[in-house]
Amino acid sequence: MPRIFSGIQPSGELHVGNYLGAVKNWVALQHGHESFFCIVNYHAITIAFTPDELRRRTRDMAVSLLASGLDPAKAVVFVQSDVPEHTELGWIFNTITPLGELERQVQFKEKSARQEQVMAGILNYPVLQAADILLYLADTVPVGEDQVQHLELSRVVARNWNARFSPDAPYFPEPQPKLTPTRRIAGLDGQAKMSKSIGNTIGLLETPEQVWDKLRPAVTDPARQRKTDAGEPEKCPVIYPLHKAFSPVPVVTEVEAKCRGAGWGCMDCKKVLHTHMMEELTPIRTRAAELHARPKDVDELLHDGARRARLVARETMDTVRARMGLDASQ
Ligand code: TYM
Repeated sequence: MPRIFSGIQPSGELHVGNYLGAVKNWVALQHGHESFFCIVNYHAITIAFTPDELRRRTRDMAVSLLASGLDPAKAVVFVQSDVPEHTELGWIFNTITPLGELERQVQFKEKSARQEQVMAGILNYPVLQAADILLYLADTVPVGEDQVQHLELSRVVARNWNARFSPDAPYFPEPQPKLTPTRRIAGLDGQAKMSKSIGNTIGLLETPEQVWDKLRPAVTDPARQRKTDAGEPEKCPVIYPLHKAFSPVPVVTEVEAKCRGAGWGCMDCKKVLHTHMMEELTPIRTRAAELHARPKDVDELLHDGARRARLVARETMDTVRARMGLDASQ
């Protein structure tokens, strides 16, 4: 079976951007792929955090992923710090990654511009990401569009290591991103991508009332000032893409016609979206509440995930150490 790997930061609650850009695809791909899904808490400590909050957010993310449909019987779901081989390989990869490749990463530029003092972890962040993926020799990585540049770097890392330590037959595959039609979901402001750090998200576990309070003021086609103005769905940055993601095809067709013909106002359109969103999200919220009531079971699932991940990770590290001469005392 082909092997896939992907990761998500423990930012607490999963939002609709994470879900549509990545996690929903993970749930589909776990059938037919050997799958590893990782809550990347070492990546999360590159920005401000408190230990208690990190612990809580890590557990909450596990609950959200399981509630969304990741099945531990099919996929290996685990926490990055439970598998120390990630940081071990990350260090090794730091020694073969040109600084210039890291400095030109857009996410590095954006994140470092927001900080007074820039820590090395922000710069080396995508090197650890390359280690995450390559530790499992995964060649396919289901992610949203914002991760594409990081994956380009993962391929550079794989190529550099192979050229030095496995020149005859490449040991590490060059991982490719697997994107969905919902690869970039805009935030409620209609400007930036949906992102926890910007505060323009809809949380996956929010109640119907909370979701409605967010949809109601969301930006639509700016040319539609009045209900009687004809609109263009393609210019509606948030509501129309969410319809395409959550509403059945005949409803999307109706949305397009009613928008162009000014048959519905934007508020009518939002109400229809709300109904279809909640049809998909309410069962997830119910499952999450059940899982929250069984924290020991969630911990056990994560421990078992780490044990299974480590079996593969150790094997890779044995090969890496041997090829690099890091096995002198073994
Ligand atoms: P993170 O935690 O920011 O996001 C997790 C996944 O959600 C996707 N995503 C989106 N997709 C569409 N629209 C959006 N608005 C949106 N916001 C987020 C992301 O593209 C991602 O797929 N660096 C990674 C975590 C990581 C990782 C890895 C990913 C660490 N190691 C190895 C893949 C493989 C990150 O910060 O994702």
